[in-house]
Amino acid sequence: MEIIAQAKEMQRRSEQRRREGMIIAFVPTMGYLHTGHLSLMREGRKRGDVLAISIFVNPTQFGPGEDYGRYPRDLKQDLKLVQGAGVDIVFTPSAQEMYSDGFQTSVDVERVTQNLCGISRPHHFRGVTTVVAKLFNIVKPHLAFFGQKDYQQLITIKQMVEDLNMDIEVIGMPTIREPDGLAMSSRNAYLNSKKRKEVLSLYRSLGKAEELFGQGERSAATILQEVRRIIEQENSVTIDYVKICDARTLEDIDEIKGEAVIAVAVKIGKTRLIDNIILKEE
Ligand code: PAF
Repeated sequence: MEIIAQAKEMQRRSEQRRREGMIIAFVPTMGYLHTGHLSLMREGRKRGDVLAISIFVNPTQFGPGEDYGRYPRDLKQDLKLVQGAGVDIVFTPSAQEMYSDGFQTSVDVERVTQNLCGISRPHHFRGVTTVVAKLFNIVKPHLAFFGQKDYQQLITIKQMVEDLNMDIEVIGMPTIREPDGLAMSSRNAYLNSKKRKEVLSLYRSLGKAEELFGQGERSAATILQEVRRIIEQENSVTIDYVKICDARTLEDIDEIKGEAVIAVAVKIGKTRLIDNIILKEE
């Protein structure tokens, strides 16, 4: 396994592999890897000849007062994990390598970033699309893998790739959950065991939404009311949003037709967690 910190060297290595006719599969991450990341890598290993990942906690996608400084980091442990996952190349740039002095370009996907997390984190997606565009230019993958847990991120990146004619297939992979249903996230590390239990109301509420949908309920307001009620049973959990949106445009909808996403974001203490499920007619 190679560890590369310089963008130029990564580009050279990818160019070589491409000339040899190899398919490059890529999993971008911010490290503190968990089973969710490993499932993306497993798929990348299956579908690519070369599996590259990046580990980079991207400062530009954190707003002022957010958790950039305390975001969990453990490169040593991450490198151990990825070795076992059959990763060929780990790209681990520094912030200075990615954003040199005088950096002034960004990528903005306009509409799908407006709703949901875009309301309380107005600069977040610009940071994500800018860094992912840079990583795509550096790693030069054919395939890139993202988890559906960050559903709005996945849709935003797909839109960027389409709008900017990037020659990359973006593949969304199912959310991986802990045995009790909590969606895997590096931020779960912030939760003590009490909070960890309380936040399960998130998953319970989505399960209820699925159940109501399965029973034929199509009114967004009715489902949302029930979801809110379940989350609000836990006094320590505050809702940022609970919304039902069109699964492609991410605009709010009143009536579920075709494919919709029910997305929730909550705060418990200082920790912000998100989750979602797709509601789709058979
Ligand atoms: O999902 C993440 O971990 C990050 O947003 C990403 C895609 C690696 C960009 O920094």
